[in-house]
Amino acid sequence: MTSTFHFLPLCTLLFLIISPSSLAQTSFRPKALVLPISKDASSLQYIAQLNQRTPLVPIKLTLDLGGQFLWVDCEQHYASSTYKPIRCHSAQCSLANGNGCGECYSSPKPGCNNNTCSQFPDNTVTHTATGGELAQDVVSIQSTNGLNPGRVVSVSSFIFTCGSTFLLKGLASGVKGMAGLGRTRISVPSQFSTAFSFHRKFAICLSSSTSFNGVMFFGDGPYVLLPNNDVSKSLIYTPLIKNPVSTASAYTQGFGGTKISTVNPYTIMETSIYNAVLKAFIKELANVPRVASVAPFGACFSSKNIGSTRVGPAVPQIDFVLQSESVFWTVFGSNSMVQVSKDVLCLGFVDGGSNPRTSIVIGGYQIEDNLLQFDLATSRLGFSSSLSFQRTTCANFNFTANA
Ligand SMILES: *[C@@H]1O[C@H](CO)[C@@H](O)[C@H](O)[C@H]1NC(C)=O
Ligand SMILES: *[C@@H]1O[C@H](CO)[C@@H](O)[C@H](O)[C@H]1NC(C)=O
Repeated sequence: MTSTFHFLPLCTLLFLIISPSSLAQTSFRPKALVLPISKDASSLQYIAQLNQRTPLVPIKLTLDLGGQFLWVDCEQHYASSTYKPIRCHSAQCSLANGNGCGECYSSPKPGCNNNTCSQFPDNTVTHTATGGELAQDVVSIQSTNGLNPGRVVSVSSFIFTCGSTFLLKGLASGVKGMAGLGRTRISVPSQFSTAFSFHRKFAICLSSSTSFNGVMFFGDGPYVLLPNNDVSKSLIYTPLIKNPVSTASAYTQGFGGTKISTVNPYTIMETSIYNAVLKAFIKELANVPRVASVAPFGACFSSKNIGSTRVGPAVPQIDFVLQSESVFWTVFGSNSMVQVSKDVLCLGFVDGGSNPRTSIVIGGYQIEDNLLQFDLATSRLGFSSSLSFQRTTCANFNFTANA
């Protein structure tokens, strides 16, 4: 009792003496970061915006969940006083799995220097790649307490790869590169976690609306969506495995490999799986008239005969069974049916042919308004199921800055 009593004034004293100087010296360390994610109406790509370079420039990037790293076009309009090429044989080069030493036969500029570590920036939408210089520059982003955006923080030597202007072909208008979120040491989430020493976790919550932004978090929850719902509390977990046939940076579950992708607008299935799903679905919906198929879909229905529910059109739910039969991801009408015209709804799955690299690739449409948390340290995926059940959506993060 007495010791506790004596301890208190001592603590107060220490606090009073130490706090002014430590506040002045210690830089703010965020617990998590937040980014708005928009959906581009014409390409159906999900777009993030990061500030990069000195002076800072906002850069739009197509989100690539399985991508290896951040790459941007360095050929056009790259001006920065803090650009640093990564030398070949350096520690950063091996961290980035770089290969070879780049040479450049013109005057030095971003993307074109001698003795630099090279990598292969790839456009995973068009499957185009090129050689490019690895480099570092300043990246800044807003921190968050999980409820609102907080103060802006920056990473002074964020590693990325220099792509070329032609590599942007096929990406949404205004986009200057891709933000890779994959399982590598230099993916965007890995670098933020290292820079600020927070949990190697990140979460994406893609909005189904092209007018209202979804959200992405780097770091652990809370992830609060209006009205005051911490969706990190209601996640179901499944292990992530490395798919021997898919790219190593991709996020895969279950036997045979079900991959999740943000660069595929819709789920793609190997032909025999696709046919089986289609057949079962059509049988369940036997009382609804089918109409002519609208590409790329194979089963379309008259929407006049389909009722609506809180989780979209009233159609049979589809379960993706994950690591065991007791853990499954249920896809409801809002994530399975695509409104292609006023009166026509199509099952939003696409035939991937008889010999794809991955038998099922779950696409963006199927994960909209679901929160997905990737935990890189424990290799597991947390998913919320449709947020409509919790009366919220991915467009409900409060982006009003906390004063
Ligand atoms: C790279 O080295 C070559 C040969 O030494 C030289 O011709 C060229 O100008 C150098 N390029 C840059 C960008 O420094
Ligand atoms: C959003 O956050 C701001 C800042 O904390 C707050 O003033 C405002 O009430 C919040 N909006 C809603 C709808 O809760």
